[in-house]
Amino acid sequence: MWLKQALLALGVASTSCLTQTSGNGTSPNPDHRGPLWGVSSPPFYPSPWMDGSGGWEEAYRKAQKFVKQLTLLEKVNLTTGVGWQGEECVGNVGAIPRLGFRSLCMHDAPLGVRNVDYVSAFSAGGTVAASWDRQLFRQRGYMMGSEFRDKGIDVQLGPVVGPLGRIPAGGRNWEGFSPDPVLSGVAVAQTVKGIQDAGVIACTKHYIVNEQEHFRQTPEAAGYGYSIKESSSSNLDDVAMHELYLWPFADAVRAGTGAIMCSYQQINNSYGCQNSYTMNYLLKGELGFQGFVMSDWQAQHSGVSSALAGMDMSMPGDTSFLTGVSYWGTNLSVAILNGSIPEWRLDDMATRVMASWYYVGRDKTSIPTNFNSWTRDTFGFRHEYGQTDYGLINQHVDVRDEHGRGIRKQAARSTVLLKNKGVLPLTGNEKFTAVFGHDADDAPWGPNGCPDRGCNKGTLAMGWGSGTAEYPYLISPLTAIQAKLLENDKNIQFVTDNYAYGKIAFAARQASVCIAFVNADSGEGYISVDRNEGDRKDLKLWADGETLIQKVAADCNNTIVVIHSVGPVIVSSFKDNPNVTAILWAGLPGQQSGNSIVDILYGDEIPGGKLPFTMGAKREDYGVDILYEPNNGDEAPQDEFNEGILIDYRYFDKMNIAPDYEFGFGLTYTTFTYSNLQIQHHRVDPYKPTRGRTNPAPSLSGNGTNGTVDPSTAQWPANLTYVLGYIYPYLNSTDLGTAAGGADYGLPNDEYLPPHATDGSSQPKIPAGGAPGGNPALYDVLFTVRATITNDGDVPAEEIAQLYVCLGGPRDAVRVLRGFDRVSIQPKGSAVFEADLTRRDLSNWDTGSQNWVITNFTKTVYVGGSSRSLPLKQVLRF
Ligand code: NOJ
Repeated sequence: MWLKQALLALGVASTSCLTQTSGNGTSPNPDHRGPLWGVSSPPFYPSPWMDGSGGWEEAYRKAQKFVKQLTLLEKVNLTTGVGWQGEECVGNVGAIPRLGFRSLCMHDAPLGVRNVDYVSAFSAGGTVAASWDRQLFRQRGYMMGSEFRDKGIDVQLGPVVGPLGRIPAGGRNWEGFSPDPVLSGVAVAQTVKGIQDAGVIACTKHYIVNEQEHFRQTPEAAGYGYSIKESSSSNLDDVAMHELYLWPFADAVRAGTGAIMCSYQQINNSYGCQNSYTMNYLLKGELGFQGFVMSDWQAQHSGVSSALAGMDMSMPGDTSFLTGVSYWGTNLSVAILNGSIPEWRLDDMATRVMASWYYVGRDKTSIPTNFNSWTRDTFGFRHEYGQTDYGLINQHVDVRDEHGRGIRKQAARSTVLLKNKGVLPLTGNEKFTAVFGHDADDAPWGPNGCPDRGCNKGTLAMGWGSGTAEYPYLISPLTAIQAKLLENDKNIQFVTDNYAYGKIAFAARQASVCIAFVNADSGEGYISVDRNEGDRKDLKLWADGETLIQKVAADCNNTIVVIHSVGPVIVSSFKDNPNVTAILWAGLPGQQSGNSIVDILYGDEIPGGKLPFTMGAKREDYGVDILYEPNNGDEAPQDEFNEGILIDYRYFDKMNIAPDYEFGFGLTYTTFTYSNLQIQHHRVDPYKPTRGRTNPAPSLSGNGTNGTVDPSTAQWPANLTYVLGYIYPYLNSTDLGTAAGGADYGLPNDEYLPPHATDGSSQPKIPAGGAPGGNPALYDVLFTVRATITNDGDVPAEEIAQLYVCLGGPRDAVRVLRGFDRVSIQPKGSAVFEADLTRRDLSNWDTGSQNWVITNFTKTVYVGGSSRSLPLKQVLRF
């Protein structure tokens, strides 16, 4: 392994595509690292103010009009959470009662509404990614969004593209989509659009390189035995940042995501929620993000610094849960009054929040919040922590509509057939069916028995943590298979104790078909299950699933394996076993789990999903792993992203490691032939870096700018009833030093504020920027690729056709995914697969010019059915 790493570092590992120079463009700067490299994150100030470009014009105008009416305190209220358990949602900001504007509600999760009844539990992001189906992504987003809307939620805390899935054992990968940035980018964009079509703001998270659970928060690390003073730092270079991790965020921004959540860990040793480079430069500058950045819960570590670095909303508002004090709230009011933060920055925060609200149409679709996430009781305290305001808090509104059907279909379309020796689909007339494994069964305490799904009991249909929803029901595979077989009054037996080997052998020996259900779980770092501290401790099946499969297969020569897992698992011990006649990866299917798998097993749905990640033979084959132990004494653990862009299939390909099942692989009941590759070149204008300067920061402060608001107007109102723990914007003294909640160091501004941080004058535009998603010319279509796909068989089927490009440079991946489509083809019929290649698709990030550049290296296009089955190939001619 060390030899491979060394070769990788030298950039001399194998590459299968040509590398001689041709074409136009310039070479990327040989210094791969760029300004971002490990030890520090460069400062960037001032924080770019919203300009309302790229479809945000109207929302921007309305937001400015709204914000212009606000007092200082009201603006602060829009930006600061009321504290943990202060209101009904997982996060709320303060209300503006004078204008009848209720407290905005931010609520989990990326797969459905968390901690509430009468909602749907959708398939997880990492599962629907396996459908590679744009329409499905959007439809699922819309369905989720409408449930959030009807519960009275303003912001859905999802979707997820951070973690991207750098490390297969990463605890929260399943909340996101795929370690491939293009697949993730398409999925996140469609999901954002779906959610926002329903009239709810999507919050794309966690920004950025939040790739493992270990050491994301110091108190949490103490919980599993490590004393560290600061959260870990994800250290990466500028190329990996742009070509890999920032890519899907760019797609989310381009799709109009109204919110972004900054993450817990540090990026090159600067915290995610006070990192001026990632928030000011990359997100608001280069990507032209128009919405607002909210902190992850307790991810804020400073007051003035986080505001100047680009954070717009503090969640849940208190410094850490239930302290009753905030970095913002009163302290933000003081910081504006004493000039540490210019008022244009506060105006920009408030404008961004309100523009997102208008952008998705919440002025038309907003309904009052009708639940309280801290209890299922109908009556209780509205302020859970303060225990005040007793009344009707849960109206139990059923918001599910017909979504159950959609979920069933979505999960079936996301199921991947990995092996089939002609045994699938089953007929339902098998004489004796035997079902095995705890993963087939209902959980003893019911599907919601463990808070935040923090256990692995019964069938697995979502991971654990804040990324969960309450199941309205969970159809287990055993329930659904029994129902199916009862249609023909067939014989069905089961053993759901994974370790009852004698019973397993007895049932397996009699059966004509055996179906073994196995799983592997993971989740968020605040819960540890079976010594998996959020991140998985290994890639094995849980409850010794491998032995279960071996035991079943030893006595049953028709053993079908169904895997429910959060990501890749090791399948080497059973995949080639001749008695294992079929293997299905069903991911985390959500509430309809059993029905969806029955639809696949018994032929009501034809399997057509493909793996959104690589299934390696062993964990070492991935080249990267979780940093399980601190490596920097009690200082911040240093998580070095030395592999750069080479994660998942890119690493396997570069190192010539054979996976068990490659990225993009999946079978159906027919085969396909690819032919007739045609590439059409489009003439477009040459790429122009964005130039010029921004307007100065707009001044919306009719109520006075810095130093002109009289602190006496910002004092605690005499008649206010204080709610315990609640965060307010008011001051408790007219002396600003005393009013602030922290120490007064007596320094003049310019000695403790970063240079330019308060400068509201016109600023140079960023060359790679220019509109939401980056320079609009990055999305110019340079080529259209077409290929004919023929269905060789006698059954109708869908093929997920994939387009890869070799960018040709020595440091590039062998191939990168750049396009895909799920195409439906009649028996013996053909269809044309078509995919566009944009300028971004063909560019590398050039650290020198800080822009995207099409290099001189020969670019080769590949088309086929998986990352390793690419029968068509052609060199691109510019
Ligand atoms: C922390 C998680 O990282 C985030 O994803 C979630 O939205 C918040 N907690 C709120 O529950």
